[in-house]
Amino acid sequence: MSKENNDITIIETSDGSHSLFVRSLNETYHSRHGAMQESQWVFIKHGLASAPLGHRPSAVGERSRTTLNHQILEVGFGTGLNALLAMRWAEEHHVNVHFTTLETNVLELELAAQLNYASSEQERSDFLKMHAARWNQDVVITPYFTLHKALREVQSEVSISQFDVIFFDAFGPPTQPEMWTPAIFQRLFNALKPGGILVTYCAKGQVRRDMQSVGFTVERLPGPPGKREMLRATKPASHG
Ligand SMILES: C[S@@+](CC[C@H](N)C(=O)[O-])C[C@H]1O[C@@H](n2cnc3c(N)ncnc32)[C@H](O)[C@@H]1O
Repeated sequence: MSKENNDITIIETSDGSHSLFVRSLNETYHSRHGAMQESQWVFIKHGLASAPLGHRPSAVGERSRTTLNHQILEVGFGTGLNALLAMRWAEEHHVNVHFTTLETNVLELELAAQLNYASSEQERSDFLKMHAARWNQDVVITPYFTLHKALREVQSEVSISQFDVIFFDAFGPPTQPEMWTPAIFQRLFNALKPGGILVTYCAKGQVRRDMQSVGFTVERLPGPPGKREMLRATKPASHG
């Protein structure tokens, strides 16, 4: 899937936050009922904030406390909205978050700079730092948030038991059916630590069954405004 960046326009969604509309796909990056509300509800409230915390002992010489640490994998960096909200959460809760995000179509910085997601000048500067960050390497954005933007497709993901949470934020199944297959869910299942969770805004029965077929335990949760349900899939804790 490839698209020209002049094919993309900024739209305003029902909660006042921006999203992007891709003309050639007739698809938006977020729910038209509220981009910010959707991201906050699906990926932060039911994802990051409800995941089991990974504990990492402090290195010798560091302050003598246990450092809490979340390893996140996102499918689709896009506008960076989910990354921004995860950064906000990390700073508010003093939890280290390492955020790996996969992308195949990089947005122009000038476009990202027009998005109205930041809640302060400091956040705006951090958001632009995310978009300007080099690909395929760790970049420290704030004290609690490190970003790793990976310029590769999810179809080539080979991580094993590495992540606590996966934000599965691909375009919807009608637009990009190749992203919603048992083969992809198998890769994402493998990439999660036992007990780790995957969240997505999509609640289609076929998607739920495909997740179950690779070993996930899947819950249907109430959806964000304008959507009845969403899915949260857990890799059983007993899975070695
Ligand atoms: C629904 S949008 C992402 C929304 C994004 N999380 C945000 O907050 O803006 C889907 C994203 O997945 C990206 N994408 C498309 N195919 C992909 C692939 N094979 N692997 C990883 N990302 C892909 C698209 O370029 C797009 O940015």
